[in-house]
Amino acid sequence: MEVMEYGDDVLYQKAKDVDEITDDIKELVKKMFKTCYDYSGVGLAAPQVGKSIRMFILSIPPEDDSDTEDRKKYEEEVFINPVILTKKGSVTAEEGCLSVPGVYEKVKRAKFVTVEYTNLDGERKTIEATGLMARAIQHENDHLDGVLFIDRLPPLKQEVTKKKLNKEYGINF
Ligand code: CO
Repeated sequence: MEVMEYGDDVLYQKAKDVDEITDDIKELVKKMFKTCYDYSGVGLAAPQVGKSIRMFILSIPPEDDSDTEDRKKYEEEVFINPVILTKKGSVTAEEGCLSVPGVYEKVKRAKFVTVEYTNLDGERKTIEATGLMARAIQHENDHLDGVLFIDRLPPLKQEVTKKKLNKEYGINF
């Protein structure tokens, strides 16, 4: 699937709830995982493939073997209509995004999150996450609210980064 990039409208919209897990949704999830692998990503939100719905996928490498490319070892999950219930602590680490290729910047996020979501089997679940999983949940959940990771940078860094991107993409805001 084509990945939407910086400047594409759908990335700045508040996505709508998923009403029902239809065959189309299941097919979309399959395609999203494939796209995530193709681009060597750890996560992908539906708006990034042009669908403004509240759903994202994660494919997180094992901490003790993070260089592996064997996706069977990865922790994978589909998050439908997610809600971040609690955030605790803070940690700064580098992030990138398939929709903002070539940009890697340090972003401050909560260290621990509790998130409630519906999985692909339609079960409502609540999990606690930390590490890369917690960071990725916050990053992908932001996509559902039309927020990119560069919107989370300190003001000056954000201005410089966006100016550079606006020039690169030929955008005049
Ligand atoms: Co992203």
